[in-house]
Amino acid sequence: MQIKGKVVLVTGANRGLGKQFAKSLVEAGAAKVYAAARDPGSVKIEGVEAIPLDVTNPDDIAAAAKRYTDVQVLINNAGATTRGLLTDPASTQGVRDLFEVNVIGPLALTQAFAPILKRNGGGAVVNVLSVLSWVALPSGGAYSVSKSAAWALTNVQREELREQGTLVVAVHPGYIDTDMTAGVTAPKTTPEHVVGEVLAAIQRDREEVLVDDTGRAVKESLSTAKPLYLTGIPR
Ligand SMILES: NC(=O)c1ccc[n+]([C@@H]2O[C@H](COP(=O)([O-])OP(=O)(O)OC[C@H]3O[C@@H](n4cnc5c(N)ncnc54)[C@H](OP(=O)(O)O)[C@@H]3O)[C@@H](O)[C@H]2O)c1
Repeated sequence: MQIKGKVVLVTGANRGLGKQFAKSLVEAGAAKVYAAARDPGSVKIEGVEAIPLDVTNPDDIAAAAKRYTDVQVLINNAGATTRGLLTDPASTQGVRDLFEVNVIGPLALTQAFAPILKRNGGGAVVNVLSVLSWVALPSGGAYSVSKSAAWALTNVQREELREQGTLVVAVHPGYIDTDMTAGVTAPKTTPEHVVGEVLAAIQRDREEVLVDDTGRAVKESLSTAKPLYLTGIPR
């Protein structure tokens, strides 16, 4: 599927990976880019239309689906993380909160926009997941749980939307250099690289995107006798 000439909605487009998506989509010749953010005033990108959208707010989602009926590609990028151990009962609220953003958000947005994508020829849904859909880090348990659930969600959406011709793309990055990883000293890939790989995947109708060595190593290990979800990622 070509990006040039398409109408694309990106969630969490005011900073980090979402901002890069919006910029790169404009550069790639998208006809229109709806740069969705909780505070549309915080979107500082030339050539996009900033729109209000909190992915946990059903009214925002309904209003967006009513108004932006020309969308052909939905990029579920907005996401959040927390730190803490799941063995600590205090972490349960964090799991609930992350589910709202990382799972229910992409679920509700895709429900709202699937009929629009169908009317507009099929199009695509991109879910920004993580390598932590497949492996765990002790300090990021709630995030792993939410991104594993979001991976399962993505696989279901792919099955449900196949018949209407909607490409459903899962993206599984390791660390990316954004605010989310400000305190992380491990090697990170750039938002430019991740977005470049995702846009290339859409153009080739590829349904799974691995953007770095961590993602490729974890994926490759899954079918071995020692998958990295049993042994842990080397750190
Ligand atoms: N950075 C990494 O290492 C990494 C690795 C793998 C996957 N990812 C995934 O990549 C995606 C983008 O993350 P990032 O690295 O760009 O993180 P980031 O710099 O922290 O940005 C997060 C974005 O999500 C938005 N957001 C959070 N909650 C929202 C809500 N309820 N409604 C609407 N927008 C909301 C934020 O908006 P506000 O400005 O309003 O907070 C912000 O635009 C996420 O899905 C993340 O899980 C990141």
